[in-house]
Amino acid sequence: MSAGSTGTAGEARHLPSPEELEQMSPEELARLAAELDEVEIVHLGKKFPIPGTRAEKRAERSVALWFTLAALSAVAFIVAFIAWPHEYRSPFEAGYTMYSLYTPVVGATFGFAVLALGIGVIAYVKKFFPDEVSVQQRHDGPSDEIARRTLMAQLTEAGKETGIARRSLIKRSAGAAAGLFGLGVGVAALAPLIRNPWKGGDEAALWVTGWRHAPGETVYLRRDTGVLGEISRVRPEDMEPGAMETVFPFRESERGNDEALLHAQRASDNPVMLIRLRPGTPTIKRKGQEDFNYGDFYAFSKICTHLGCPTSLYEAQTNRILCPCHQSQFLATEYAKPVFGPATRALPQLPITVNSEGYFVARSDFIEAVGPAFWERRP
Ligand code: FES
Repeated sequence: MSAGSTGTAGEARHLPSPEELEQMSPEELARLAAELDEVEIVHLGKKFPIPGTRAEKRAERSVALWFTLAALSAVAFIVAFIAWPHEYRSPFEAGYTMYSLYTPVVGATFGFAVLALGIGVIAYVKKFFPDEVSVQQRHDGPSDEIARRTLMAQLTEAGKETGIARRSLIKRSAGAAAGLFGLGVGVAALAPLIRNPWKGGDEAALWVTGWRHAPGETVYLRRDTGVLGEISRVRPEDMEPGAMETVFPFRESERGNDEALLHAQRASDNPVMLIRLRPGTPTIKRKGQEDFNYGDFYAFSKICTHLGCPTSLYEAQTNRILCPCHQSQFLATEYAKPVFGPATRALPQLPITVNSEGYFVARSDFIEAVGPAFWERRP
């Protein structure tokens, strides 16, 4: 590249050659950048023209305070994320209060770290960046080579104007806040990879749900009436054609045991949608699951196979089950296979029948993993 000229018609400007560019100081490069951008600085007032005043130190301390709070909050987040008791506890067990505080504590510490970091950056800009009023002409198209080369110098100069080089308190606190915050994000990202969800083989928590049978035990389909100890088992005549009910597992051994009843309702992989199709609705059944339904009644896991939201909506006109999170749709008449949206796997079907008492019962647990499709993959 050789020296040349640029500018609007009638105002040709001398452009430095690569050799001249190499010789230029950062200040000259920054000035050149402003000229090339046709920036006219109308007013430039430094916030602290005399370095080292008490006002400047006060401003520096207030910015550093926010970065320090962000760093402390990031540390608190990491400690809480790793060490706070997070395993499920029912309200009847010791440690329930600590367990129920896990999400608020992790959320609050992470949120405050982000907030304090953001406030620190904003406070730094407001307190130390010079008051500048500039006018720049607007141009179309990409920047040329020289403009790109001078941009870094311009940014460096802008940083120098704020005096960042000599503000070690702000540099140290901002570095600690950014570093610890990044560490916290890294810990949160790596944590799910550390535990082995397959530990336990076929008995691993990912393979069994509350619908699992113990020998000689009947697992009923029970609706949630809103009253914990009230047991309402579902019978075919309870539902109109085109209706849907959410049901949970129930065993007679759990009657009167509030803790077990609550656990059955709260366990994330237990909710099932019991759907009654309208009579005569044609269906396609999945190979090997031809007898999982009972007449027009079909029971599918309510946990979306995309990311695990509850697929709470059933549209009787189209026989579609809808997940409100990312709009996946599943066809109830075709073994709940996905027909729209990001889900790629059918909702697992629970094998059901009606026992001699006339109540719906589960014939076995699900025969595949419940929940996001990722978990279906065996190691
Ligand atoms: S969780 Fe259901 S569509 Fe994403």
